[in-house]
Amino acid sequence: MLDLLRKRRSIRSFTDQPLEPHTVKLLVEALLRAPSSRNRNPWQFVLVDDRALLEQLATAKQHGSEFLRGAALAVVICADESRSDVWVEDCSIAAILLQMTAQSLGLGSCWAQIRKRQHDQQATAEQFVQQVLGLPEQMRVVSIIGIGHPGEKRHPLTADKLEYPKVSYNRYGEQWRRA
Ligand SMILES: Cc1cc2nc3c(=O)[nH]c(=O)nc-3n(C[C@H](O)[C@H](O)[C@H](O)COP(=O)(O)O)c2cc1C
Repeated sequence: MLDLLRKRRSIRSFTDQPLEPHTVKLLVEALLRAPSSRNRNPWQFVLVDDRALLEQLATAKQHGSEFLRGAALAVVICADESRSDVWVEDCSIAAILLQMTAQSLGLGSCWAQIRKRQHDQQATAEQFVQQVLGLPEQMRVVSIIGIGHPGEKRHPLTADKLEYPKVSYNRYGEQWRRA
């Protein structure tokens, strides 16, 4: 896992190669194995590989969702908010597990933030996605994860870029020293 984390970068450019059904099955398994508060599993996931829908989802925001256009698969991470008060946390955990599983399978991925973002002056990005996919109002949308075979290579973050001063030891502000 640490090796995967060391190499992980957001990938926003993808080749045209579709995902194998077996690969999608593994990604879905990763989502459904995500831990959730009180085991409520409030999340629901919409898998989108329809090109016309991907085109629409790519316009969910004015900036930052356009890469979804080229993804082989977009996974819309949503939750029934009446099932848990911490659905955002539960969804976020499922999303990052999905991203790391994608990476372990040699795929690239990136998170498109939907919750608390605007589509245009009239509608939120969330309302837009709900309308495009026919989601009921209580089905809240946290993010959309775009996945595909990487069409770009990105350098891993080197160890000297890690923000170790942000780690305290016992009391806040007391520096933790690496062995
Ligand atoms: C909560 C969250 C929201 C993000 N939203 C977007 C987004 O809307 N569009 C996008 O292109 N990337 C988005 N990202 C990806 C970040 O921009 C990216 O993780 C960050 O710049 C660090 O780069 P790296 O992932 O390559 O290490 C998001 C990441 C997180 C964790």
